[in-house]
Amino acid sequence: MAERPYAIEMRGITKTFGSVTANHNVHLDLRQGEILALLGENGSGKTTLMNMLSGIYKPDAGEILVEGKPVSIDSPEDAKKLGIGMVHQHFKLVDVFTAADNIWMGKEKAGFGLKKDRYGEIQDMVRKFGFELDPKKKVHNMAVSEKQTLEIIKVLYYGAKVIILDEPTAVLTVQEIEKLFTVLRRMRDEGHSIIIITHKLNEVMELSDRVAILRKGEYITTVNTAETSEQELTEWMVGRKIDLNINRPLVEKTRPLLEIRDLTIRNDEGAVAIDHVNFYIRGGEILGVAGIAGCGQKELCEAIAGLRPVQSGLTTSWACPPRPSWKRASPCPSSPRTGWAWAWPPPCPSRTT
Ligand SMILES: Nc1ncnc2c1ncn2[C@@H]1O[C@H](COP(=O)(O)OP(=O)(O)OP(=O)(O)O)[C@@H](O)[C@H]1O
Ligand SMILES: [Mg+2]
Repeated sequence: MAERPYAIEMRGITKTFGSVTANHNVHLDLRQGEILALLGENGSGKTTLMNMLSGIYKPDAGEILVEGKPVSIDSPEDAKKLGIGMVHQHFKLVDVFTAADNIWMGKEKAGFGLKKDRYGEIQDMVRKFGFELDPKKKVHNMAVSEKQTLEIIKVLYYGAKVIILDEPTAVLTVQEIEKLFTVLRRMRDEGHSIIIITHKLNEVMELSDRVAILRKGEYITTVNTAETSEQELTEWMVGRKIDLNINRPLVEKTRPLLEIRDLTIRNDEGAVAIDHVNFYIRGGEILGVAGIAGCGQKELCEAIAGLRPVQSGLTTSWACPPRPSWKRASPCPSSPRTGWAWAWPPPCPSRTT
């Protein structure tokens, strides 16, 4: 791998937004035919750096080289011409169009470009890389993983040799992640160069050839994945020694403070978001609710807070007076007297794209 030439070199890149320095004197090399993981804590400048490679932002200082030649990337169109394509965290698709139309929409003079065999062309690409996608399916009927596949095919269709994926696994199930990794490996083997942004160390170790680390907008280092460990990567990422073994003392078995019984909730579109769910939480516990985006966490929290009517079931709180929750309940107020406090951090930052 070490002898392969560079596809991309970013040298001394700096980008500020007002008083915030998102990237300061950052270096990044991507070799041809490799998968490079870009790792860093939230807000460390990963998306901003990649947005400069894909023409969304211009660096305040620094230089970008594509296959050894200095280039100026002033727009996404420039990036496309240089063979660079980015799959953003928030998809950029038109819901009422088919997969094929979404791909063709990016073509200059689309009206003239539409050919009879357009589906065939896309299907060839789907087969070549091992994707699963129906070019005639409309985007609003697609699962999140299908939309992501479409975004990847879109950049490949326009000849991208360098493909950037911003946290692609955040919206996927474990099985879908495995499928995505198979496709990415196949793309690498076909000679594409890939940058994948992820927070998940196990994914970095499983997929990447090398890892570049950013911390608070500064470039830290790039290492061969085979020569590092999760422990070492964590320490570079946060800048201090970290103990990955968390001490979890057994929680004393007190009575539950909140109990959810057979709860069914509908989402804003009227579809079942939570289907007969049961759980409880005791005092002294932290309960994690795991799931990919859109799997009902938001509706669950809103129902517990009394902000969303529930279809059936019961939420009972011993910190607040018990209440049947099939009626629209008033929110259990945050106050020291009721023993409740609510915090609603935004689910994801929309500023990144
Ligand atoms: N358009 C913008 N305007 C102002 N500040 C911004 C903008 N984009 C990013 N920032 C700031 O720049 C810093 C780096 O943000 P960036 O989104 O690049 O980080 P990140 O590593 O991608 O984080 P995350 O893991 O949360 O996606 C943050 O402090 C962020 O608030
Ligand atoms: Mg980001």
